[in-house]
Amino acid sequence: METKILAADLDSLKEAARLIKSGDIVAMPTETVYGLAASAYDTNACAKVFKAKGRPQDNPLIIHICDIDMLYDSVEEVPPLALTLAEKFWPGPLTMIFKKKDVIPYAVSGGLDTVAVRMPDSKAALELIRLCKVPLAAPSANRSGSPSPTCAKHVYDDLNGRIPLIIDGGECITGIESTVLCFTDEGKNIHILRPGAVTAEMLGEYASVTLDGAVFQKPADNAKVLSPGMKYKHYSPKAEIIIIESDNEEKLAEYLNSHIESGAYAVLYGNEKNVLMPRIDYGNTAEEKAHNLFSALRKTDELGAVRAYVRSPEKDGIGTAVYNRLLRAAAFRVIKI
Ligand code: TXA
Ligand code: MG
Repeated sequence: METKILAADLDSLKEAARLIKSGDIVAMPTETVYGLAASAYDTNACAKVFKAKGRPQDNPLIIHICDIDMLYDSVEEVPPLALTLAEKFWPGPLTMIFKKKDVIPYAVSGGLDTVAVRMPDSKAALELIRLCKVPLAAPSANRSGSPSPTCAKHVYDDLNGRIPLIIDGGECITGIESTVLCFTDEGKNIHILRPGAVTAEMLGEYASVTLDGAVFQKPADNAKVLSPGMKYKHYSPKAEIIIIESDNEEKLAEYLNSHIESGAYAVLYGNEKNVLMPRIDYGNTAEEKAHNLFSALRKTDELGAVRAYVRSPEKDGIGTAVYNRLLRAAAFRVIKI
């Protein structure tokens, strides 16, 4: 199968909708990362998503909706807090977990009785959902384990020959996947399973917020985790990734310069001086780092890197999300200097 890439105009969205309605799968842009979309009501189509990605069957998919009616069609109960958050943050990078209705197959929920729902802030994605008239189940459109795709080329590099069509909506604005949360205390409070651009600080305006232990820590091999995605190896390029934590730029440069070898690269903010190791810069602000992290990790592969030392991002705001992804890419290897 040759994978087509089409610019996100109405004609190509209609073609994508035709494919999805006939039980096929299509990569679509969103504001966070590219998604691999199937009808959320179609068990066979969802099975194709798992197969194309090489994704473990127990890792559930997020369903993408274009209006609030689709939320009520898919879930049993909507706590008032969820509606408040939907009003404030949808369309946007926030995924909320609800008790699922029977229309959502267990193929989507990974065997759970819950389903994760979000309304993406992307004209192309919203139009595609509207044309399909059903929620679209869509995980990130990468091969399982590799960094999430933030442009159509990343999707093509991972899935060429495995899917019929990629809708090209340009570079994703946010660059990092949505915040995933569930509700606790009978819907009154918030537990963050995966940090994203809707930050704990932002959510804290509406309820009390806790961060899941798996956000910054490696779950034990047999641990029961609330968000199955947290237990898998993730976001890894071929190179060995090592996080370097340092506030002292002189010491940082010294460390990197004493570790120069063939295939070693530094992934830095951009303003560090005196670093002689070949470098990829991923940005000064936390937003820039979120936007560029996955393409920087993919760049290490393009350059044939054996090892990449990545300077640790901020650990608050959206930096929490960047650090969470980086820890997994680095298999939790952090060096403090
Ligand atoms: O920004 C995003 O969320 C992107 C775009 C395409 O929308 N999607 C995405 O999907 O990142 P995926 O499948 O790569 O990540 C979904 C995460 C996984 O960690 C999964 O375990 C968790 O959400 N998840 C999904 N349904 C869940 C549920 N019912 N309970 C707990 N966690 C769930
Ligand atoms: Mg993913």
